[in-house]
Amino acid sequence: MSTLNIGPYHIEHPVMLAPMAGVTDRPFRQLCRNLGASYAVSEMLSCDLSLLKTAKTQYRMNHDGEPGPIAVQIAGSDPKKMATAAQFNVDNGAQIIDINMGCPQKKVAKKKCGSALLSDPRLVADICRHVVNATQAPITLKTRLGIDSDHKNIMEIAHIAEQAGITALFIHGRTKEQKYQGRSEYDLIAAVKKQISIPVIANGDIDSPEKALAVIKQTQCDAIMIGRAAQGNPWIFEQVNSYLTTGQIPKKPSQTEIIQVMYEHIKNLHDFYGPITGCRIARKHIKWFLKGLDLDPITCKLMKIKSAEEQLLFINQNLLHKVA
Ligand SMILES: Cc1cc2nc3c(=O)[nH]c(=O)nc-3n(C[C@H](O)[C@H](O)[C@H](O)COP(=O)(O)O)c2cc1C
Repeated sequence: MSTLNIGPYHIEHPVMLAPMAGVTDRPFRQLCRNLGASYAVSEMLSCDLSLLKTAKTQYRMNHDGEPGPIAVQIAGSDPKKMATAAQFNVDNGAQIIDINMGCPQKKVAKKKCGSALLSDPRLVADICRHVVNATQAPITLKTRLGIDSDHKNIMEIAHIAEQAGITALFIHGRTKEQKYQGRSEYDLIAAVKKQISIPVIANGDIDSPEKALAVIKQTQCDAIMIGRAAQGNPWIFEQVNSYLTTGQIPKKPSQTEIIQVMYEHIKNLHDFYGPITGCRIARKHIKWFLKGLDLDPITCKLMKIKSAEEQLLFINQNLLHKVA
């Protein structure tokens, strides 16, 4: 596997965190980067700049203290608005802009955004060209295989992207229609990698070092991106990277380590969102971290706690001390 650059930015190794709205906020991106992800893209931001003042957008635009390159994902279907949004985000500190053409959600697809754009290759070309011309920053594209099993037009989209000046292409091996069902397929990702000369990053269902190696072998892609398998398991990046470079998989984190890392992450979520929202958002991370630790009664109690202070106190008294 050759070294990967996205524009002028060198990416240290090929194991990246995939953007997930509602998950890969700044605290989670920082956690994954600290524990071994080589790259992380922000949750998607609408190109509708009238939404800038909403709390959700303000949190999503916050990159304080994040390691570079800062990559911001934008979503929309109007080429001019997308270009303005790209320039706006670069002015706000983004070093790379990623265009979302992968989201299958109804509320996104309804506006012909996200993966719905794949049904209109001319519009895809128009958006890519406008965004590329709007700024000096490298522009990447995250997309899927196509709209459905009868319309897998990723090869056409990849050529359009390359011709428009897109710097790297992230491909989730499912169609829009599949959402997150069925299995991710990699044949077309491999075919695209053979045909285009910009970096191709494979994504979809990569949940272990062995799977990562198999996908890299099959696709010959430049890197892989991991999403859901990092939820509650930010150690996966180091595990995969170590396996790819040495053939060895580091020992899984101990229960103590998992709980300590979770505790620090919850504190970071409280600091970032404030105690009320932070406490609520922390719950899903707690579930993910504790999954598989045989701590169901404790997890149940934790889900009911309604204050940030109590959340930390409970973990301190019932988990940190018990396992120490
Ligand atoms: C909860 C959730 C939110 C997501 N949000 C985004 C997003 O904002 N932008 C995007 O390009 N992809 C988004 N995705 C798709 C992921 O980046 C990734 O392509 C997909 O989950 C497949 O990879 P995985 O099997 O490793 O999870 C999201 C996925 C999930 C599960």
